Amino acid sequence: MSKTATALIAKAQDRSAVFGVVGLGYVGLPLVMELIGAGYRVLGFDVQRKLVDALNAGRSHIRDIPSDAVAAAVKTGRFSATADLGRLKEPDAISICVPTPLSKTRDPDVSYVLAVTESVKQALRPGQCIVLESTTYPGTTRELLLPAFESTGLKVGEDFFLAFSPERVDPGNAKWQTRNTPKVVGGITEHCLEVTLALYQPAIERLVPVSSTEAAELTKILENTFRSVNIGLANEMAIVCDKLGVDVWEVIDAAATKPFGFMKFTPGPGVGGHCIPLDPHYLAWKMRTLNYKTRFIELAGELNAEMPEFWVAKVADRLNDAGKAVRGSSVLVLGVAYKKDIDDIRESPALDVIRLLQQRGARICYHDPHIPHLHEDGLDLRSTALTPESLKEADCVVIVTDHSTVDYAAVARHARIVVDTRHALPRADTHA
Ligand SMILES: NC(=O)c1ccc[n+]([C@@H]2O[C@H](COP(=O)([O-])OP(=O)(O)OC[C@H]3O[C@@H](n4cnc5c(N)ncnc54)[C@H](O)[C@@H]3O)[C@@H](O)[C@H]2O)c1
Repeated sequence: MSKTATALIAKAQDRSAVFGVVGLGYVGLPLVMELIGAGYRVLGFDVQRKLVDALNAGRSHIRDIPSDAVAAAVKTGRFSATADLGRLKEPDAISICVPTPLSKTRDPDVSYVLAVTESVKQALRPGQCIVLESTTYPGTTRELLLPAFESTGLKVGEDFFLAFSPERVDPGNAKWQTRNTPKVVGGITEHCLEVTLALYQPAIERLVPVSSTEAAELTKILENTFRSVNIGLANEMAIVCDKLGVDVWEVIDAAATKPFGFMKFTPGPGVGGHCIPLDPHYLAWKMRTLNYKTRFIELAGELNAEMPEFWVAKVADRLNDAGKAVRGSSVLVLGVAYKKDIDDIRESPALDVIRLLQQRGARICYHDPHIPHLHEDGLDLRSTALTPESLKEADCVVIVTDHSTVDYAAVARHARIVVDTRHALPRADTHA
């Protein structure tokens, strides 16, 4: 092992290593807090100056991280944020947590990763360990980051260290957080792996080493593809049951009593968030470059993407049963976040439901206890209060997100028609 590696491991053990976390969003900020909790000093990097200023003033923009915790970290002098990427030479370890969206043509958009790679390259010095955490296709770390860093003349595994370690954060999950969720790590070389494990070990309860960065990259995409495919299957089952006149929830609950060989997934309005609708396409794209078509990924993506249309057709049917057209009817969309109890609307199927209903001439209002203002995709709406009056006024209420704090008994009592995409109401109260 090189002297540089030994020195970095020693710095991890006595916590004198300084961490840099690049990208202070849903993934980066929770990681910062765990590293601070482990006793490290952390420099946070983000290109959004307002965000940097807010964090330095002790204000959190991530729901799972209270402002008090950020303020306390700033007060210890062990956390500060900066928009000056030139300071990337200061940290010993750099965790990259920037977005990896899709382009308009649904291909990987690695421009954020490339921008950070360039910034790290400009600052790279011997004794640094760089860990990519952003979800991406297998090969990214070795094909994009490694050549850029080695172009400085420094040698991987000896002068600097490079690894991939996917983040598994689940916003809103009270039980599983960054610290107690096992974390997979794959290094470019054996020493890269050892150094990365030593650096993360104080902050994460269980590390899961794998043999390469590709294995680590693919692990994350397998996890999200697994969810996408199984949600797709549950959604197809919902369509099947609808055609057969069978209650899909009854069937799923009954199947879930099997103590082995079955895992419960539930249907809904589609999938949302920064992971499940996007990540599998990173792999599909990569495999297209190798002339292989990933059929499960495509099929699940199609099924999940069709669900808003399925539910909008249900709204139209229920209104029709009541002698009304969609055009001119008022529809209250209940919940617009992409899943329950969070304030994130990225890729939310609610946006598609709203758009499709508007295209058919419906008048839309919405209620979401976590999203006071919906300013997205050409929409500019404010959350209406959920009262007996607002429920009675709507020609139809469509439950898209099943937030825990909503009084569904009141919804069932006062709404004229309810279309429930989430099984939020007790069965007897559901009219769809
Ligand atoms: N949100 C999740 O639940 C989740 C879970 C697991 C993995 N991931 C993955 O983690 C990565 C980050 O996702 P996120 O949800 O935290 O994104 P996010 O948008 O919440 O945060 C990313 C941050 O990076 C900053 N940024 C962009 N370009 C930058 C640059 N060049 N230099 C410095 N900062 C820059 C942005 O300003 C933003 O604050 C993605 O690859 C995502 O797929 C997300």
